[in-house]
Amino acid sequence: MGKKLTISDFYEMKKQGRKITWITAYDYPIASLSQQAGIDMILVGDSLGMVVYGYDGTVPVTMDECIIHCRAVRRGAPEVFVVGDMPFGSYHCSDEQAVSNAVRFVKEAGMDAIKLEGGTRVASKISAIADAGILVIGHVGLTPQSSAALGGFKAQGRTAESAEAVIEDSIAVEKAGARMLLVEAVPPELAKALRDIVKIPVLGIGAGADIDGQVMICGDILGYFQAFTPKFVKKYADVAGVIINAIKEYIDDVQKSKFPAPQHTYSIMPEEKDKFDKMLKKYIK
Ligand code: KIV
Repeated sequence: MGKKLTISDFYEMKKQGRKITWITAYDYPIASLSQQAGIDMILVGDSLGMVVYGYDGTVPVTMDECIIHCRAVRRGAPEVFVVGDMPFGSYHCSDEQAVSNAVRFVKEAGMDAIKLEGGTRVASKISAIADAGILVIGHVGLTPQSSAALGGFKAQGRTAESAEAVIEDSIAVEKAGARMLLVEAVPPELAKALRDIVKIPVLGIGAGADIDGQVMICGDILGYFQAFTPKFVKKYADVAGVIINAIKEYIDDVQKSKFPAPQHTYSIMPEEKDKFDKMLKKYIK
């Protein structure tokens, strides 16, 4: 068994300038393969709404859906630090609601931490969850759950005023008790500044390389999420192409009776062959 990294390891990595690697996974196979590849952290992101369920955004995702996927990922990657993503509506109503849903991620799905979106406006929720002894990761910049309020899936912090708002949000998240920060879709200069402004590890998506680590959506980097590809994605594989070609070959083999071949079938026991042939004659003249 490998050793699962802890929050102290991530602080040490920030101190030493060693990058933290993070990927999303929503199911057992991708979790298991990510663990085998040596990833530091997995996020069971609410992006599962788009990547797994085909919704236009993350808003419809429910707590029960998240818990089911978190459990599968936990089973696939027992040696990886796994983070559950709190879906829209699961922490917005009250501090009590935020705590009881965060507890579900830990108790029912064995998550090591939870992530939630927002800065100053969710500070009391972060404090309440942290006070319950649960590790919280903040998420600022582009926050997809509030994309309608932000005017769409738009990069943030591109003006001095908007950049200052992202900085203030990050400071609020750290003060409230979050132990790591995810910053999404902001200019690299802002992300680099954030890395030095807050003490907690700052990970990014679409925020440049000058931060403590990166997260990417598995369907994007593996090339099987086809609905859209953000500018910040690098494709490391064409899994969609591999799958389509494999299924095409299977269709062709079946249509031409090339599959199944003898090695894919079960034989009748040799000592039963005569009895079997006699029995068949009753049915086939
Ligand atoms: O849900 C998700 O996958 C995210 C990404 C921005 C990493 O939060």
